[in-house]
Amino acid sequence: MELPFAESWKIKMVEPLRKSTREEREQWLKEAHYNLFNLKSDHVYIDCLTDSGTGAMSDRQWAAMMMGDESYAGSSSFFRLKDTITRLTGFEYVIPTHQGRGAENVLFSHLVKAGDIVPGNSHFDTTKGHIESRKAFAIDCTIDEAKDTQLEHPFKGNVDPAKLEKVLAENADKIPFVIVTVTNNTAGGQPVSMENLRAVKAIAEKYNKRVVFDSARFVENAYFIKTREAGYADKTIKEIVKEMYTYADAMTMSAKKDGLVNMGGFIATRHEDFYEGAKRFCIPFEGFLTYGGLNGRDMDALAVGLDENTELDNIETRIKQVHYLAAKLDEYGIPYQRPVGGHAIFVDADRVLTNVPKEEFPAQTLAIELYREAGIRGCEIGYILADRDPVTRENRFGGLDLLRLCIARRVYTNNHMDVIAAALKNVYDRRNEIKHGVKIVWETELMRHFTVKLAPVEE
Ligand code: F0G
Repeated sequence: MELPFAESWKIKMVEPLRKSTREEREQWLKEAHYNLFNLKSDHVYIDCLTDSGTGAMSDRQWAAMMMGDESYAGSSSFFRLKDTITRLTGFEYVIPTHQGRGAENVLFSHLVKAGDIVPGNSHFDTTKGHIESRKAFAIDCTIDEAKDTQLEHPFKGNVDPAKLEKVLAENADKIPFVIVTVTNNTAGGQPVSMENLRAVKAIAEKYNKRVVFDSARFVENAYFIKTREAGYADKTIKEIVKEMYTYADAMTMSAKKDGLVNMGGFIATRHEDFYEGAKRFCIPFEGFLTYGGLNGRDMDALAVGLDENTELDNIETRIKQVHYLAAKLDEYGIPYQRPVGGHAIFVDADRVLTNVPKEEFPAQTLAIELYREAGIRGCEIGYILADRDPVTRENRFGGLDLLRLCIARRVYTNNHMDVIAAALKNVYDRRNEIKHGVKIVWETELMRHFTVKLAPVEE
C-alpha cells in the first residue's frame, strides 16, 4: 500500500485553544461593531483572519535567534540575512524594514509621486493605499479569468499582457514601475506563471520600465510553477525562485508570510539607484540601514525561515493542507475561487448569500455568520476592503466579494480543517434564510476595513 502524505515536521510546543458559546459570541460581535478585527483573539476558536505573522517558527529558527547581533550598525545578523536574500534572488542590495508595508512606504517614497500610475495585478490593500495616499493611481491589469471564481485556470494571478501594454502605451511618462504580486492575494492567492513573469518583463523593458515583485508569498508561487507549469516539474523550488527574480528589478517583501517569521520585511534590488533612493527614507521611517525596524535576532530567524521555506518538503506540506480544506468544501458544494490558491480559501460570498444585496456586504455578512456559528474568524476581501473610489467617493462594487479563510503556516492540524469545513457547511445549509447584511456606521477614507464600524440591517 502506498503511504499517505503527511506533514514534513513534528510538533514540539503547543498552545491551548478556547471555545465559546453562541451567546458569548453574539455579545462579542455587538461589542466589536461587527468588525472581526475588533475581536479579542481569546474570543476566537480557530483564527483564519490572516496567514501574516501567525505561523510557527521551527527549532532552527528559534536557535538562530540566540545568535542575533543587536549592534545598532553593521550587525552580523543583517549580513546573514542579506547573503541569504542575495543567494535566493540574485539581488545584491537589501534594506530591512519592520514589515511589508514599511518596505512599500520606503521604496514608494522614492519612486511614486502625485499623478503617477502604477499598473499591476490586483495590488494588495496596503500597496494600493501607499499609491493612492500619494495621489497616484493603481491600475489593475489582472486577467479577466480571475473574476470568474468557478473558472478553472492554473494561473489566475497572471497579468493580462494586452491590458498592461495599453496602460504603458498611453501613460508611459507617468509610470514609475510595474508591480507584480506573487502570489496574487486579492484575486484569491492565485499564482503567476513563469511565462507571464517573463512576458511582463519584456513589455516593461520595451517601455524602459522596471518591474517590482510584491513578494509576500513568492515561495507558494514557485510551488505552483513547479506543479502546474510545463518544464518545471524537475526543478527545485530554489531554482524556480532564482529564475522568477531574473524577471524583476526589485522586490518588496512582507516576511510575515513566506519568510516564516512573525514580524519583518525588506526591500531588495539589483539597482544601485533604487537602493540609494530608498535608503534616504529607510533611516527616518524604519531605522538604520542594517536593521530597518528589526531586531538582530529577527533578521537571523528570517534568514533561516527563507532558506527553510524554499525547500520542497516545507512548502508542499503547507499547500497540501490548504488543498485538504478545499477538497472538503468541494464535497459540500461550497463555491470558492477555483482552483484553490496557496494561503487561503476565498469563498465566493455573492454566490452563497444570494439574498443579501451587495450594498449590505455579503462577504462581511458571511464572515459574521461563520464566527457566530463556530468562533472561526475569517476576513472579508471584498466590497468593504475595496474602499471608495478616490474621485467619486462611491463604494467600489466592481470586484469580487470574498470571504477569505487563511491557513496559518504550521499551526493547525487537518482536524481543525474539518471543523472549519463543517462550520461553513452549517452556514451554507441555512444560506437562504439570511436575507440581510450590514451597513457602515463609521469609516475612514483609506483602508477602512480595519476599523470600520458596522450594524446589522433590520427588516
Ligand atoms: N503585499 C501583500 C501581497 C500582502 O498580502 C501584504 C499583507 C502586504 C503586501 C503587506 O505586508 O502586512 O507585512 O505590512 N497581507 C496581510 C494579509 C496583512 O492578511 O493578507 P505587511
